[in-house]
Amino acid sequence: MTTLEATGAAIAIDDRCVAHNYAPLPVVAASAEGAWITDVEGRRYLDCLAAYSAVNFGHRNPEITAVAHAQLDTVTLVSRAFHSERLAPFCAALAELCGKDMVLPMNSGAEAVETGIKVARKWGTDVKGVPAGASNIVVADNNFHGRTTTIISFSDDETARRGFGPYTPGFRAAPFGDADAFADAIDDNTVAVLVEPIQGEAGIIVPPDDFLPRLRALCTQRNVLLIADEIQSGLARTGKTFACEHWGVVPDVYLLGKALGGGVMPLSAVVADSEILGVLHPGEHGSTFGGNPLAAAIGSTVVAILQRGEFQCRSAQLGAHMHHRLRQLTGHGVVAVRGKGLWAGVDIDPALGTAKQVSLRLARRGVLVKDTHGSTLRFAPPLVITEQEIDWAIDQFAAVLAG
Ligand SMILES: Cc1ncc(COP(=O)(O)O)c(C=O)c1O
Repeated sequence: MTTLEATGAAIAIDDRCVAHNYAPLPVVAASAEGAWITDVEGRRYLDCLAAYSAVNFGHRNPEITAVAHAQLDTVTLVSRAFHSERLAPFCAALAELCGKDMVLPMNSGAEAVETGIKVARKWGTDVKGVPAGASNIVVADNNFHGRTTTIISFSDDETARRGFGPYTPGFRAAPFGDADAFADAIDDNTVAVLVEPIQGEAGIIVPPDDFLPRLRALCTQRNVLLIADEIQSGLARTGKTFACEHWGVVPDVYLLGKALGGGVMPLSAVVADSEILGVLHPGEHGSTFGGNPLAAAIGSTVVAILQRGEFQCRSAQLGAHMHHRLRQLTGHGVVAVRGKGLWAGVDIDPALGTAKQVSLRLARRGVLVKDTHGSTLRFAPPLVITEQEIDWAIDQFAAVLAG
């Protein structure tokens, strides 16, 4: 039995059967709409996390839920054993959005990353000519790409790794933002460079302006695939469809997830040209649920929303306002503000407590944010949030910082 008191009134929930992975804030959601979550006792919270960017288009976005409801009444799952009329149009639309010609839909973000790694290794042996089993992939220090055994093998987060070995070999790391170090790490057997364009879980770390363009040039010169993990940074979060666009960079492979499922279904994808994704043949990869008709119908709607550009504009404009308001708190409990669009990492003065403690105080005032690291809070509201709501959230934050 857990008693949740952080929000002022105690709620008892029997969560003895719920195994641990996250350390949730003591809020029990009963319903949600737009940028707001209502708990089981009717208290309303402004959601400034958006399920780690999975709810970019708002909770229960009506355009998305209408399509989901209609698809529930037709066909929801056939597995890839058969065709469905939803899959091919979804893949064509997403490929066009990305400027590529092939899509492999999966479910979770980690699955997309795993799939991207498999594709890069297969491309390495079949196309680049790297001896089987000898390839390596260069990743960034402080990366976060998910929680599977292979992915934690190249994480430097000890909490994510400890006790889960043996680890998958074939990865080497270089400091994020240091293109020279990536150049040194690449050798003849390197098949891919895998990076988040902006590191999310590390604290919304924006690289120096020359980093991604230099990585792009390096990968082209050395015949290495540039894989951009846009699972958290992509799909309008930073004010562009893809964060890579801020630097005019087009990766060879996009890894997408979270918001692709419209806040309704787990839906992820690997997107690339057929010279790359075409290395997979029937039987070499699979997923029972990947690309199911329900997810594909929702994904097509998400792509249509993104083609209109309204959420990219909202994120850019409202993000500028949010960053301006947050930066005004520098010296008043805030030490640094980073990010792009409606995505901010805010370092707080450690004297005020941990970021987790500050997020609990904010929850009591009706604003939900989450800590990324000891002293860093993440503000990533659904992109339907209004300017007034942003102002209200930051007023609450200022009040918490003022004690
Ligand atoms: C950049 C990035 N890649 C991959 C993942 C993993 O996604 P999922 O939790 O859906 O497996 C995340 C999740 O936060 C992420 O931020």
